[in-house]
Amino acid sequence: MRSTLTTVLGAGAALTLLLTACEGEGAGTGDGAGGDGDAAPEDMTIGVAMPTQTYERWLQDGGSIEQGLEDLGYGVDLQYADDDIPTQSQQIDQMITQGVDALIVASIDGSALTSQLDAAAAADIPVIAYDRLLTNSADVDFYVTFDNYEVGVNQAKSLLYGLGVLDESFEDSDDAPEGPLNIELFAGSLDDNNSHLFWQGAIETLEPYLEDGTLEVPSGQDSIEQAAIQRWEQETAQERMENLLTSHYSGDDELDGVLAPADPLSRGIITALRNDGWGPSIEDGMPIVTGQDAEIASISLIDQGIQHSTIFKDTRLLADEAVRAAEAYLQGEEPEANDTETYDNGEIVVPSFLLEVEMVLQDNYEEILVDSGYYTEEQVESGQL
Ligand code: BGC
Repeated sequence: MRSTLTTVLGAGAALTLLLTACEGEGAGTGDGAGGDGDAAPEDMTIGVAMPTQTYERWLQDGGSIEQGLEDLGYGVDLQYADDDIPTQSQQIDQMITQGVDALIVASIDGSALTSQLDAAAAADIPVIAYDRLLTNSADVDFYVTFDNYEVGVNQAKSLLYGLGVLDESFEDSDDAPEGPLNIELFAGSLDDNNSHLFWQGAIETLEPYLEDGTLEVPSGQDSIEQAAIQRWEQETAQERMENLLTSHYSGDDELDGVLAPADPLSRGIITALRNDGWGPSIEDGMPIVTGQDAEIASISLIDQGIQHSTIFKDTRLLADEAVRAAEAYLQGEEPEANDTETYDNGEIVVPSFLLEVEMVLQDNYEEILVDSGYYTEEQVESGQL
């Protein structure tokens, strides 16, 4: 039968017919639905692996991706892994065994999923790395993220601005304090590729001021390894800040600023500072503390003049990009990348789609976050969603 068809219609048309015949079996068939483009969304399931529910952002990311995919008719298997690598590996193994048609993965440790990625490739399941790069594997199809280097640049610029080194146009200020201004540095988890880009962007921006003596790091802890907070844990950041205060600021030493890479860490650092008698607000001597993610509790602290800044990354837009990429693969197409150079994962340069980020300060949070409808004024006041 098949050979007759081949003779009559030609190989290409026969292939189309064969693939059409597989259609309708849906997820679980292992038929490589990522490639045929003919199955109906209702017959397809997308596995979405998220790292943790302890950070507000991942809850929003997961919720937005799920909603976006369901709106298009796809089934969704959304799993959170409690920041535990074996749990995340098992969840993805299971998604593959159950025959998901595509995977969207926000990893805990970007290098720990190579065997899952092998298995996904063998089953012809397209894999989209979400926000965090999946490394050491050629089996990563696409990457959606923010401009992570720019996150670090903006964190450092907001720190320099808060310290009075830069003016409101983010140029060197004519009235910059003499210095040295004392700062301490925090970084994210070393197994998250983003941490390195955030750090690089921040340090390259701070470097000239560290070199000319405007800034100093009294603890001497100025390498990413010394500054890193394993698994991005708030308590660990608080503890490290407490230790820094005890070891280096027990006398009259002034601490002027802290580079903090994410809002929960900023709040841990602020708690340590408050407990040690700093503040309560920047006006009363709380050091300039940066952040990331524009979490509601931190926006409330920014409103109150306690935390200095954060970086807004609109996770709704990132979720849209992930949905768009998944849909492209499921329709047998390639998603459109806007960066094909930056994200070398150690095996391949992963085609990526990068979104822009915005610095948030006390005088612009209303415009960026409230006027745009991201948060209500009541949420900012209560510090809760
Ligand atoms: C994300 C940040 C987040 C951090 C901790 C990073 O990979 O890009 O937005 O704050 O992980 O969850």
